[in-house]
Amino acid sequence: MALPAPGRPGRTPLVIGLRGACGYRPEHTLASYELAARMGADFIEPDLVPTRDGVLVARHENDITATTDVAERPELADRRTTRLIDGREVTGWFTEDLTLAELRTLRAVERLPQVRPGSTAYDGQFAVPTFEEVLELRERLSSELGREVGVYPETKHPSYFAGLGLSTDEPLVAALEAHGLNRPDAPVFVQSFETTNLVDLVGRLGLRTPTIFLMEAAGSPFDAVAAGDGERTYAWFGTGAGLRDLAAAGISGIGPDLSLVIARRADGSMGADTGLVPRAHEAGLAVHPWTFRAENTFLYADFRSGDDPAAHGDLAGQVAAFLEAGVDGFFTDHPDVGAAAVEAWSTTG
Ligand code: G3P
Ligand code: CA
Repeated sequence: MALPAPGRPGRTPLVIGLRGACGYRPEHTLASYELAARMGADFIEPDLVPTRDGVLVARHENDITATTDVAERPELADRRTTRLIDGREVTGWFTEDLTLAELRTLRAVERLPQVRPGSTAYDGQFAVPTFEEVLELRERLSSELGREVGVYPETKHPSYFAGLGLSTDEPLVAALEAHGLNRPDAPVFVQSFETTNLVDLVGRLGLRTPTIFLMEAAGSPFDAVAAGDGERTYAWFGTGAGLRDLAAAGISGIGPDLSLVIARRADGSMGADTGLVPRAHEAGLAVHPWTFRAENTFLYADFRSGDDPAAHGDLAGQVAAFLEAGVDGFFTDHPDVGAAAVEAWSTTG
């Protein structure tokens, strides 16, 4: 896929349905992905983790305590454990401790019931999908909607899973290959918070799609931490030198936290444009920030409406500010609002 060229006119920033349309359905379910596509998302975004038998499934985290009903299953009570993931102790139930057959007995639940009480009506209805099922859904929806619905998989905790002998990278490339999607012009971006596995995916494993390096607002990628590399912080990757380094490594773009593009002041209001977008474009990198969510609790203060943290504010207004800053696409929990914002921005420019 040709990366979107920065700058108006004629540019159409990409709407990426984060975990599907997780503002409306429990995240990472086929129902969530399908709704995202029907709402106008250009891409659906599965986060990928492995089961104990090495099958890629879609969950935001390998800890599935908050996104499934596993805690209510007495037959799996003994699987609750504590694991050290990217330097942090986490207690719960983990996909790498369950076979696919065991995982498939579970049902997804809404992760944010306080903020999204409407989605709890779907608790217990949907299984945890495999990546294979997501790709099959993508094909069906592309055919039905008469347009390519893209897929934007994220390899979660790549150093951690490689250390367990459960790397997500080989099965990811195999799945893309099997579906005819391992090509530069496929509607696919592969994303990671670490550069090591992105470079390995392209260099050793033969991934041919564009790749996106995700950037947290602070801290360092865990592959750099594990290597004792104190220099390669997320902040450094946002400098001209860091961005050029990414481009030289064959990485196609960045996926930064919103505040790395437009600062968020201490009071939550919108601050200055950081200049990250033009710096990235100068290096030849696309910019796809995350995450645009409609609820007041997640919005910059300028775009909130009323005092209810769960009420929706002016997400379209916030999206428009980032489109003006030049982003090439964006991750959103509410793809309907995102698509409408892009439409309005594209036609009024
Ligand atoms: O993948 C982009 C954005 O989603 C950031 O990652 O998975 O922590 O939400 P995640
Ligand atoms: Ca993600």
